[in-house]
Amino acid sequence: MIDYIYKEYDSVTSTNDVAKQLINEYCPEGTIIYTREQTDGRGRRGRMWQDKKGETLATSLVLYPTLPQEYISCITLVAALSVRAAIKNFSSLECKIKWPNDVICSDKKICGILTERIFVEGKSAVIVGIGVNVKNQEFPEELEDKATSIFNEVAAEKEEMRRVLGDDNDENYNSDVIRKLMEEDNNELLYLIWDRFNEYYDIFIKSGNMAGLVEEYNKCLINVGRVVKATDPIEEINGVALGINEMGELVISTGHGKKNISSGEVTVRGLYSYTK
Ligand code: BTN
Repeated sequence: MIDYIYKEYDSVTSTNDVAKQLINEYCPEGTIIYTREQTDGRGRRGRMWQDKKGETLATSLVLYPTLPQEYISCITLVAALSVRAAIKNFSSLECKIKWPNDVICSDKKICGILTERIFVEGKSAVIVGIGVNVKNQEFPEELEDKATSIFNEVAAEKEEMRRVLGDDNDENYNSDVIRKLMEEDNNELLYLIWDRFNEYYDIFIKSGNMAGLVEEYNKCLINVGRVVKATDPIEEINGVALGINEMGELVISTGHGKKNISSGEVTVRGLYSYTK
């Protein structure tokens, strides 16, 4: 198990940038950065990650894994499992995972993960950056159909309960979650995420691959049984996703047999903007 050291900030460019700086200063494994605001949050593939002060949870963890290169990307899958479990512990919401790094609720993205690897004096370090939409009630127009938050999902459930049971019966439904969401500096979700990560990461490190987590991951995987389009660095692959294998690759059934995808972008038909 990793011993954590939490480092709290008010405002930073990106928690992954702070992690890089701390790695250069030889911080120990288990250093966790979290902040109330990111002014230059980063997503995958050079995209920006939009944060609103106090609304989005932004946190990064420093690891020094001694794994073969091909297993490093599995850490993103371990993180996605952890966030999904933590959101369920925190709010009872049932989320799914879109391979490799999105956590999804009601077919919209609630969390993104950016795992980066750097080398300092020959030592390999991995930064696991997690962003969760927690209190956001509104999103920029271009994200409205694609993004959601814990607050919006819990409020929608409460509204549905009121519709079904009538005004008198909804008093306590989800009230404790909404109360927690209203509190400033409530770090419960942060601790839940990293506690769950410690448990899943331990299973991953002990087996050296995803063997102990494949079944659980595939149960949560939104891609399974759906038409997907994978754009890996070389080609575009269309097919039906079957699930991940022990290497954390996404296995796709195509008209010409099975293909394993280890990196690249995967879109799921009917989710976000892929509707073809
Ligand atoms: C994505 O979905 O493209 C990944 C988004 C990752 C966002 C998190 S927020 C904490 C950490 N710091 C960053 O700058 N990015 C990650």
